[in-house]
Amino acid sequence: MHDEIKEILIPEEDIQVKTKELASEITEKFDGKFPLAIGVLKGAMPFMSDLLKRVDTHIEMDFMDVSSYEGGMRSTGEVKIIKDLNTKVKGRDLLIIEDIIDSGLTLSYLVDLFKYRGANSITIVTLLDKPSGRQSDVKADLVGFEVPDAFVVGYGLDYQEKYRNLPYIGVLKPEIYS
Ligand code: XMP
Ligand code: MG
Repeated sequence: MHDEIKEILIPEEDIQVKTKELASEITEKFDGKFPLAIGVLKGAMPFMSDLLKRVDTHIEMDFMDVSSYEGGMRSTGEVKIIKDLNTKVKGRDLLIIEDIIDSGLTLSYLVDLFKYRGANSITIVTLLDKPSGRQSDVKADLVGFEVPDAFVVGYGLDYQEKYRNLPYIGVLKPEIYS
């Protein structure tokens, strides 16, 4: 599996250090508030797990699965709910946890949806931000790392459902997807 990776962009240790920093900020921001943390499946799963186990205040967890990619590499702009929340968001302070913000279309859809459902506040934390891909004006409150305009995999991120279990963020060799 590792020999299909051209370059490691963010090593495992850097991710762990950053995750601790983000967790402290989240603890500070939500201390005593019992927010609802919403992981966006499947990509956010490893990040959500590493992040939330370091948050030192009460949080509720739920998951949402949305898709706009159909297994490819470019956003279609159309967001489909595959799995909705089990929890009511009305009046709640939300913490949306994402793997990457690329076009921003997924997140702007979710933000609109949760506002419509009556969330009290919405905070966005993303492990990765790829500003070059942006097609909406959505912004994360907390960002782990900025990444260049390359398709990245690992630590939750996939190409055709592979590589999510890599412990680092890397770039695939071009021959893998051409
Ligand atoms: P948007 O474009 O809506 O993207 O901000 C959100 C979702 O698209 C996936 N995505 C990627 N997945 N490498 C991946 O493996 C990438 O470079 C990449 N860019 C976007 C991802 O699931 C993200 O949540
Ligand atoms: Mg995702």
